Amino acid sequence: MNRNIHFDQLPNRYLFKEIEVRADAYKTLHPDAHLLRMGVGDVTRPLPAAIIEAMHQAVEELAHEATFRGYGPEEGYPWLRQTVIDQEYTPWGIDLDIDEVFISEGAGSDLGNLSELFLPTNCVAILDPSYPAYMDSSIMAGREIIPLPCTIENGFVPELPKQKADIIYLCLPNNPTGTVLRRADLQRWVEYARTNHSIIIFDAAYEAFIEDPDVPHSIYEIEGAQQVAIEVRSFSKSAGFTAVRCGYTIVPKQTGLNAMWLRRQCTKYNGTSYVAQRAAQATFTPEGKRGIAANLAYYKQTAQLIAGGLIAMGYEVYGGENAPYIWCRVPQGYDSWSFFDHLLHTCQIICTPGVGFGDAGQGFVRFSAFSDRKDVEEALKRMKTIV
Ligand code: MLT
Repeated sequence: MNRNIHFDQLPNRYLFKEIEVRADAYKTLHPDAHLLRMGVGDVTRPLPAAIIEAMHQAVEELAHEATFRGYGPEEGYPWLRQTVIDQEYTPWGIDLDIDEVFISEGAGSDLGNLSELFLPTNCVAILDPSYPAYMDSSIMAGREIIPLPCTIENGFVPELPKQKADIIYLCLPNNPTGTVLRRADLQRWVEYARTNHSIIIFDAAYEAFIEDPDVPHSIYEIEGAQQVAIEVRSFSKSAGFTAVRCGYTIVPKQTGLNAMWLRRQCTKYNGTSYVAQRAAQATFTPEGKRGIAANLAYYKQTAQLIAGGLIAMGYEVYGGENAPYIWCRVPQGYDSWSFFDHLLHTCQIICTPGVGFGDAGQGFVRFSAFSDRKDVEEALKRMKTIV
């Protein structure tokens, strides 16, 4: 047996696991401490009643012989796939066939698994900093990685790769910097991919936070993108499904990868739970939409509160508009992890160290707006005592 030695290049622990370990160690030493969690982007608002009701009904169906179901289609139930097209794409003038929509258990696993469609010799361009799953899964596959630095100097807007990249991961609105690309900027990436025969894996997990009309919600709003882009979306951050687990991935036939992805899913994925798919369907009902809009408004206001509070204290802050993440430069004398530890030990605040998203994230921390409002208010009060 030869084990996959590429794993040796990964950081010892996954970023959010490392944060958990440090927070748990602190909690063990200080059991009475109230930790203020602004680290991982995990939702805190309960699910809207219409979604809970749909799940109850689905569970009830499974309890009776007449309505019981076993395995569903690996690619998801047609009623959910069609609803996704009707509600998320048709209104933006995007034409998709039902068999281009694949229901998933959430974006995270598909973002890594999609790389199985490409030979390990294909190189991959990844924004630096970015959500660690792209980098980690590319390292596991032993791929050559082209980092695309996103810095203060370039306004966190990456430049096109100087060499040919076979695969490109783009996450917009961006996790962790909160950056967005306007239509004309995204158009340049689609043109690059068409010229270089690259594929863009477009992570649109945060599209529900977009408010600016010049920022596309889907890469398919750009002409020609269906030839070169796979889009990955999630109900986690938009509808609060981090526990329920449901998302979807669009693999257009024009990419030449659609049949491969179906083949892969049929072998390796037994489908998303029926209850989760009924819950996802309920997000598109009028009551579901109202409940989700209220939760999104809460998170958007929390983002403004965090950004405003940090700016008032003199911190240099980016993001937080069109995105739930606030990217904050650490004070002089600290790096990402030492400021993380400082905030944990002096204010009992948990944030995310920027360097955990890539080397170019050094010197930053990320605050998540998916936090409890009272905790955020308390965190800002405590931080005032250390500036
Ligand atoms: C994050 O905090 O970056 C995300 O919530 C992590 C995830 O979605 O897995």
